[in-house]
Amino acid sequence: MTKGKFIVIEGLDGSGKGTQITLLTEALRRMGSKVHRTAEPTDSVTGGLLRDALGGFVQRDAYELSALFLSDRIFHNVNPKNGIRHYLEQGYDVICDRYYYSSFAYQGMDADLSWVMDMNLHCPEILKPDLCIFLDISPAVGEERLSSDRSHREIYENVATQQRVRKRFLEVFDLLKDNENIKIVDAARSVEAVSADIIKICEALKEK
Ligand code: TYD
Repeated sequence: MTKGKFIVIEGLDGSGKGTQITLLTEALRRMGSKVHRTAEPTDSVTGGLLRDALGGFVQRDAYELSALFLSDRIFHNVNPKNGIRHYLEQGYDVICDRYYYSSFAYQGMDADLSWVMDMNLHCPEILKPDLCIFLDISPAVGEERLSSDRSHREIYENVATQQRVRKRFLEVFDLLKDNENIKIVDAARSVEAVSADIIKICEALKEK
């Protein structure tokens, strides 16, 4: 059986990842692929610790958060029941909402970026995605979208932080450009236009 493709969708808060992942999942299934949809943080115990911190209920520093995300990501890869590796080996395409690029952009703002990158990129259990699509929006657009559907804000969900996060994402993509397959998509357009671009990129990946 051929291995599935590992596709990561990244973006600022409010960039429309959830909607686009639903549309991509449907499109890939229509093309006959088996698709497993997943996200980070996961629903593991560590994922719960992370959500408490992201919600602002427990304070943790950037190094602690980096290590927790790393641990959650290792679990996400190796978990024999529903881990990423398991699904890829069963021939599923795996679509993951956020991955190590988010650790680089978010924790890499306050923790040493090369330390965060090294421990993720050099961990043999953490798979390198076949493709990362970054849904690019300005923090102002993200803010508008979040305001309409969120009552509680997570620690990173404010315009000033999102500006720093976007800058970090773009810096990191530049650092990784020779080693990783990263595509930046303008996500300020209509849902349909963004989806059409994402599907085209994934079709090309599947043909490889
Ligand atoms: P998000 O993906 O927007 O999901 P939800 O809509 O359920 O809030 O939120 C996850 C948050 O976690 C987001 O603010 C980014 C943060 N995050 C990190 O800081 N580092 C990481 O490594 C990952 C995977 C996420």
